[in-house]
Amino acid sequence: MNEQQIIETFKTKFQPQLTTGLRGSYRVPSDKSISQRALIFAALAQGTSEITHLLPAADVQHTQKALTDLGIQIVQRQRLTWVVGQGGWQFKPLATRPQLDLGNSGTGTRLLLPLLSRQSFTSQLVGDASLSQRPLTNFLEPLQKMGAKFSGGNYLPLTIQANQQLHGIAYQLPVASAQLKSALILAALQADTPSQLVTLAPTRDHTERLLRLFGVPLAIQGRTIKVLPWQRPLQATALTVPGDPSSAAFMIVAALLLPDSHLQLNNHSLNPTRIGLLHLLQQIGAPIVIGSSDQLAAEPVGQIGVQSLTDRAYPPLQIDQHNLGQVIDEIPILSLLATQLTGTSVIKQAASLRHKETDRLHVITEQLRLFGAQITEQSDGLTITGPTKLHLPTEPLNAYDDHRIAMMLIVASLVLGQKIPIAGLGSIATSYPDFLTDLIQLSQGA
Ligand code: S3P
Repeated sequence: MNEQQIIETFKTKFQPQLTTGLRGSYRVPSDKSISQRALIFAALAQGTSEITHLLPAADVQHTQKALTDLGIQIVQRQRLTWVVGQGGWQFKPLATRPQLDLGNSGTGTRLLLPLLSRQSFTSQLVGDASLSQRPLTNFLEPLQKMGAKFSGGNYLPLTIQANQQLHGIAYQLPVASAQLKSALILAALQADTPSQLVTLAPTRDHTERLLRLFGVPLAIQGRTIKVLPWQRPLQATALTVPGDPSSAAFMIVAALLLPDSHLQLNNHSLNPTRIGLLHLLQQIGAPIVIGSSDQLAAEPVGQIGVQSLTDRAYPPLQIDQHNLGQVIDEIPILSLLATQLTGTSVIKQAASLRHKETDRLHVITEQLRLFGAQITEQSDGLTITGPTKLHLPTEPLNAYDDHRIAMMLIVASLVLGQKIPIAGLGSIATSYPDFLTDLIQLSQGA
């Protein structure tokens, strides 16, 4: 579904008044992070890679279009995507204009940056209004130390100068970010000397897993990643994209908060760096069962069973730098859940949330307060005291074009049992275009 169809579906088909719980069995939509990495790595590889279940969402399509503009041939038929790799690190010079439009895709932008940093041609990255407000300082500084040349400020639009050489780096990452880790790994593989990267805290490890699948092993010990120059091409492969736990999170929390839910989620990621939400739910004693695991694209996947929370009091959530990386995209929906738990949930050391699609600490606070939530914003986190019976917002809701805020507000209106107009819903197309149809189907017992 595109943005307009999402807005239309909300207007014409979404009926929270009729909803009881979510029931049935459902395939979690494909992972956005893995889809974009799979396309990019396949573009660099020697041979044709076959990707099954690439996520058909706007962010992935922007990354795909950028690769096509860079001369990569990509063919799609239903669930299959074939990428004819260029067999090396050098893209063909951009044919007509040097500009690559990444739309809202932060991951596409940040993973293409290190690749465009060592090309024989100059390129320019542009994005939509939200992406153009997200600082790139943490990326540009180490890449410049490695020899990359940029002009413009620390934001998109950004010009990346033609450059023949990158050098290795010994670098301690100042933030816990999988995007930064991935960008520096990709730069380090193209460098002329070895690199050593020390991460701050665990973050999603899809780059490490997928690179291995494409034939590039990395030496990882604890928080240290040693990267040797890799002048050879990656090797094409076939892979199936597992489900995205950050999309499934909205269904899981909706199932918990609505009465009479019996939901089974298939193809759910069981990657330890992504399932912080499942662990938090287990810790508070929520009715959730994690099934045994299978492997897809070097990633563990499995089945999750969820039922409604019972009438008993569930304790609050504690999120800090130790588990933040595993729930970085789930904070909006976990904040909604926290309003229904007993006691004060604390989210701290989470200042990076101010630089997501919106300033999420601020927007979550503003929007949940409209429902009567007791929520306070700190410089690096939130405190949320519950349980609060949500009430009808007296002012219009606004997702500010942030897909994860939009889906959280839809779940909040389901819990309230009232249909409330929400501005900025079209942004759901970024990561989960079928969210509303899946939700409607499951609330009818699919
Ligand atoms: C992503 C990593 C996370 C996440 C983003 C996708 C990725 O960002 O918020 O939606 O694909 O690596 P950071 O690693 O910058 O926190």
